[in-house]
Amino acid sequence: MTNAKLEGTQPQSIISGVAYQRCINPQCGYTLDVGQVRTACDRCGDLLDIEYDWDRIRVPSQLSHFEQMWLQRHSPLRFSGVWRFHELLPFAPAEKVVTVGEGQTLLQKANFVANFVGLEKENLFLQYEGMNPSGSFKDNGMCAAITHAHLTGARRAACASTGNTSASLAMYSSVTGLMKAIIFIGSGKISYGKLSQALEYGALTVQIAGDFDDAMQRVREVSKDLGIYVVNSINPFRLEGQKTIMFRVLEALRWQVPDWIVVPGGNLGNSSAFGKAFIELKQLGLIERVPRLAVINAAGADTLYQLYSRRGLRWNSGQPDMGVVRDYYDDLDSRSAKADTIASAIEINRPVNLTKCLRALDFCDGVVRRVTDQEILDAKAQVGAGGIGCEPASAASVAGAKLLREEGVIAPSDRVVCILTGHQLKDPTATVAYHTTDQEKFNEVLGSRGVSRASFANRAVAVPNEVEAIVRAIQLYS
Ligand code: F0G
Repeated sequence: MTNAKLEGTQPQSIISGVAYQRCINPQCGYTLDVGQVRTACDRCGDLLDIEYDWDRIRVPSQLSHFEQMWLQRHSPLRFSGVWRFHELLPFAPAEKVVTVGEGQTLLQKANFVANFVGLEKENLFLQYEGMNPSGSFKDNGMCAAITHAHLTGARRAACASTGNTSASLAMYSSVTGLMKAIIFIGSGKISYGKLSQALEYGALTVQIAGDFDDAMQRVREVSKDLGIYVVNSINPFRLEGQKTIMFRVLEALRWQVPDWIVVPGGNLGNSSAFGKAFIELKQLGLIERVPRLAVINAAGADTLYQLYSRRGLRWNSGQPDMGVVRDYYDDLDSRSAKADTIASAIEINRPVNLTKCLRALDFCDGVVRRVTDQEILDAKAQVGAGGIGCEPASAASVAGAKLLREEGVIAPSDRVVCILTGHQLKDPTATVAYHTTDQEKFNEVLGSRGVSRASFANRAVAVPNEVEAIVRAIQLYS
């Protein structure tokens, strides 16, 4: 692997010569010190990666080395499910990393859900990222972004959000006291669970008369003007933290690589980070083969599906046909088309990590599918009935796995890991509406989304306030 040749201007280097930023476009390849704050390449405007001069880093020769880190869990660095893997994302010195104990998550063998998906028993695993301190996978990336922000002297950090990024940023800001959180949200587009977190943690909450795509554009403009640090997943440091979700999946499988990783696709940060994780593990000789990647859009926010599966857009050795993308966005604009799904976390039409995701799909022989809100809510009900539960966007992964099984793309004997990105309690409105006995409530919340039935509803039983009637109901239903 090559040494970094730094071409950008160079302030203080955080780890001189070991980590650097590089444009993902191979024809550009512009490099920049890690001490610089950017969300795009200065030369060509494409996305940036964090790269490492691996020859100068003491990377363990076996992934099983990382299990030893548990023995040191009295140290916050090793307790963190992100920084436990510091050698695989060494852009900041170990003593400078920010952690609130993120990444203590669970890979659960889910036989009940395997049956729903159509997989053989023992073959479906659910990675519960909702167990993070702010209740979603975002904490994996936020600890890395805040580490970098702090090292570069940032006093304010901002994001546009469908709710989970903002909850995570607000939490890191208040727990650490290192910076002020400023969050941009679309109006009426964020679930109460997530909004309540940002408000309670004390973030400055800017509600824009628009949707997530509008908020995303504005946060980039305003942050540039005011010199505010941006923590959306266009921030390449965030994706370094999100790589560790895959390290923990492999660890839980005793370092056996599964056949499939299935993940919901919104802004496409996770899928991009997972691809980078596997590219690097393979490059370092730490795994022999890579899993296939399935990215699942909601049908009402299906840009990746439209571009990848319908229009044949590919990574194409780093030269994707951006004309196809521009035409697609022009068409959306001409129709004033807006993203619309019950899975509000992935209600995004202009995913900022599109090109990185194409690279991940290329490397992991990926597929992209879209699932309806009906399929998402039925899958969510089954995940909940099988155990810990998740928010609607997360269940897109399970609904997608089921679809791919039905198509025969995933075989019954394949080992499949679905990423459950957010906690069940993030969005109780959709859950309660699904299980309600009140048809009006059902229609109000779900009917407009094309959801016509609750196939797996567990309805409350209404009884008079009398012991006899209650006893009768319990005997009848249990
Ligand atoms: N699942 C959940 C629960 C999310 O909150 C998000 C993104 C995604 C999936 C999509 O992940 O962007 O990596 O493809 N939420 C962002 C937010 C956009 O603002 O909280 P992605």
